[in-house]
Amino acid sequence: MTTSEPEAPHLLPFERGRIRLRDVTLADADLLDLWNGELEPGSFNDFGPRPPIDRKALARGPLRNDRNGMLVIERTADGSAVGTIGYRRVGYGPPPDSDAWQLGIDLPPETRGRGYGTEAQRLLADWLFATTPANRVEAATDIDNLAEQRSLEKAGYARDGVLRGAQFRGGAYHDLVYYSRLRSDS
Ligand SMILES: CC(C)(COP(=O)(O)OP(=O)(O)OC[C@H]1O[C@@H](n2cnc3c(N)ncnc32)[C@H](O)[C@@H]1OP(=O)(O)O)[C@@H](O)C(=O)NCCC(=O)NCCS
Repeated sequence: MTTSEPEAPHLLPFERGRIRLRDVTLADADLLDLWNGELEPGSFNDFGPRPPIDRKALARGPLRNDRNGMLVIERTADGSAVGTIGYRRVGYGPPPDSDAWQLGIDLPPETRGRGYGTEAQRLLADWLFATTPANRVEAATDIDNLAEQRSLEKAGYARDGVLRGAQFRGGAYHDLVYYSRLRSDS
């Protein structure tokens, strides 16, 4: 991404089918704290206790800038929140044209297995390609997280390969599988 080109985040909410991506608001803070408090110990997203949502930051505006962001995944049918999806900029070379977006997603147990996460991961890439010049949107997941791997494949991401011993979690190093969608992918 070049710094002279328009930066990301606009055109929200962004929706298609059963899912809408929208900004986090102060009204979401209690629910997000609840979900964070219920994080299953030992799960793939368990990196220890999460701090309370920063309400002062939220009062100032959306949780996103030109380096990272977090969005709420909302069900269009009833406007209920079903999870969160975040993204952050990662660099693969000195020119900013080599910057990519890496996503992270979290659905509470009660909304998993219904395809919402899959739709959200497809939609996030579509939104990032529509609103930023990035060529690549990627996701890295534990080699044992088969649900996320399947979800990414259904969402149009291609498997890049394995980064051995890349992530320290739960007292041990874990292999990560990388997936990506490129701007030129359908
Ligand atoms: C991984 C995750 C984002 C997938 O989103 P989802 O909406 O549950 O995805 P889908 O419903 O499309 O299911 C994807 C695959 O997960 C498996 N799955 C089925 N039921 C499931 C359930 N109750 N819970 C989780 N996964 C399930 C299936 O293999 C399914 O593939 P299939 O449709 O071909 O059968 C979501 O389950 C989640 O947030 N999990 C916990 C956090 C996590 O692992 N995040 C990713 C860390 S990198």
